[in-house]
Amino acid sequence: MALYAIGDTHLSLGGNKAMDTFGGAWEGYVDKLRAGFAPLTAEDAVVFCGDLSWGMSLEEALPDFRFLDGLFPGKKYLLKGNHDYWWTTVSKMMNFFTGEGLTNFSLLHNNCQLYGETALCGTRGWFFEEEADGHNEKVFRRELLRLETSLKAAGEREKLCFLHYPPRYQGYICQEIVDLLERYRVAACYYGHLHGGSHRLAQEGRRGSVEYHLVAGDYVGFVPRLVSEWDGN
Ligand SMILES: [Fe+2]
Ligand SMILES: [Fe+2]
Repeated sequence: MALYAIGDTHLSLGGNKAMDTFGGAWEGYVDKLRAGFAPLTAEDAVVFCGDLSWGMSLEEALPDFRFLDGLFPGKKYLLKGNHDYWWTTVSKMMNFFTGEGLTNFSLLHNNCQLYGETALCGTRGWFFEEEADGHNEKVFRRELLRLETSLKAAGEREKLCFLHYPPRYQGYICQEIVDLLERYRVAACYYGHLHGGSHRLAQEGRRGSVEYHLVAGDYVGFVPRLVSEWDGN
């Protein structure tokens, strides 16, 4: 049994925003996802690091949820990306998932989830694009609070952190987020959001005491990236 992470599936199975038109890595990305997930079993779990679906509502995103659920029979942990316009309150989303029989879906939002004894923490995060319309201190502080709430919920367990936005990028660092990752002794941080030409500016590997990994779909070839293996004990 193993834990994997992938971000930015950008599905549009019920809409008309399929990403194949971008060409390159995106060509045939739905089939690539099917192939990439084929080896996974009911014992495996995947964290989806945001930008899952272009759907504007839960109903519009439903074909994409069904596709993700059908990729493999194990647990799916979802966190919010900047393009998840369908995202609403936790109770509405969980009621919707339960009503649709999507019982393997859980959310990573103001909480932590356990994978064995490892705590999975996370939130959307913060990136300089957010500054484009003027720094929104309230939204920024809310994200920091969400991350800290999630890290605190983990207690003394080993912690992995999943974000949508990269906390580090060539020429950018969100110091407040990096400080939280260090202070709560997060072993590794997985993030998405970066596409195409931005990949070359991504930061991978150890910085300080944290290992950083970009897992955006088009970066990992739409194959979920192995995070850790667990023998079930
Ligand atoms: Fe994205
Ligand atoms: Fe994004």
